[in-house]
Amino acid sequence: MAGVQAVRKGWGAPVGSLTQLGTVRLGKRTDNNTPAIKDFVPLAGLDDLVFGGWDIFEDNAYAAAKNANVLKPELLDKVKPFLKKIKPMPAVFDQNYVKLISGPNVKTAGTLMDKAEALIADIAEFKKANKCDRLVMIWCGSTESFTKPTATHQTLASFEKGLRKNSKDIAPSQIYAYAALRSGVPFANGAPNLTHDIPALLDLARDRGLPVCGKDFKTGQTYMKTLLAPGIKARMLGMNGWFSTNILGNRDGEVLEDPGSFKSKEETKLSVLDQILQPKLYPDLYGDLYHAVRINYYPPRGDDKEGWDAIDIFGWLGYPMQIKIDFLCRDSILAAPLVLDLVLFLDLAHRAGMKGIQEWLSFYFKAPMTAPGLYPEHDIFIQLMKLKNTLRWMKGEELITHLGLEYYD
Ligand SMILES: NC(=O)c1ccc[n+]([C@@H]2O[C@H](COP(=O)([O-])OP(=O)(O)OC[C@H]3O[C@@H](n4cnc5c(N)ncnc54)[C@H](O)[C@@H]3O)[C@@H](O)[C@H]2O)c1
Repeated sequence: MAGVQAVRKGWGAPVGSLTQLGTVRLGKRTDNNTPAIKDFVPLAGLDDLVFGGWDIFEDNAYAAAKNANVLKPELLDKVKPFLKKIKPMPAVFDQNYVKLISGPNVKTAGTLMDKAEALIADIAEFKKANKCDRLVMIWCGSTESFTKPTATHQTLASFEKGLRKNSKDIAPSQIYAYAALRSGVPFANGAPNLTHDIPALLDLARDRGLPVCGKDFKTGQTYMKTLLAPGIKARMLGMNGWFSTNILGNRDGEVLEDPGSFKSKEETKLSVLDQILQPKLYPDLYGDLYHAVRINYYPPRGDDKEGWDAIDIFGWLGYPMQIKIDFLCRDSILAAPLVLDLVLFLDLAHRAGMKGIQEWLSFYFKAPMTAPGLYPEHDIFIQLMKLKNTLRWMKGEELITHLGLEYYD
């Protein structure tokens, strides 16, 4: 929110945002026709955006930003009047799903269905008060405990019965997703929790003509992984080990100290390599891969995360080699442009009549949601091609295959 305001005022540049800085080539390479994405498709402009949200803490957005200590004080002071006005609405929270934090700003009355209705009322009130034409909701809340779909999640009827009966199978993020979809609002999940990746909510999204996507923003170590692993595989180099470890000291790191929340994260982080390297297709190269991911909470670093990777690969005749990565990154600085892009693209998809899972937005996620039975595409360059081709397709432009034979006729 602070970043969008800074960009609007000219105090900063939207670095890392494809919607704000990216281009899309149209036609042949010789045509020299490469418009900016935001000129090519009718995205909402930054000046038209307003923000709202829920949190279990009462801090307004300025107090929260000050506490998070990501932005420099000079910038924070400038955005203070804007951020101070954004106050979180009382949250729907359940400590069984996020064990290590608790806060006072929560809805307590009634059943889970009553809480869902209260969220629906919050959404309607926000829309009215801010005179919005359209809304998008994105889950940027804490990582909830790892869960698998149960019978409650299978149909909309069983889910709604679960809401009325206070089923323990329903996580808070699922109640927000349900409220968004019931309100006609597209929904994305930036965290690794199950949330709307269940038949009940996917059916609801399709029935209401709403686009959805998830899970878990691809920002730091997994982003590096999906840059490097496809390149190693492209050259048919082998791999027998990839050890990833992180230190981070923000509230996300604190929540991930709980084994249940960490398990959600571990699942999305581990799935990536297997799907990129395809060990079943290449057992000699990747059949014995040892892949481990660790996250350690280390308060002195705050939001400045450090991610190490030790990668053991082998080449011609099986000779071993090593690669080391030490990525000194900033968690929220990497995540913010992704949140903005997803909101703008989901709004576009909604207006374009696209509904259900938006695979073309896989580019943004560690564990992209896909249709049942379909494996996700993790290679970031394939994801980018898919995204840009979807924009071309939306506008009736020719898709780019990169075959290139036409230049040599
Ligand atoms: N680079 C990144 O920042 C990044 C990358 C990938 C995924 N994620 C995921 O995004 C999520 C948010 O990360 P963060 O660093 O902003 O964490 P954070 O702890 O700074 O913010 C999460 C906020 O959610 C609030 N919250 C928790 N449960 C809630 C509920 N039920 N309703 C309303 N508010 C609730 C917490 O009070 C907290 O203020 C995490 O799941 C994280 O794993 C972040």
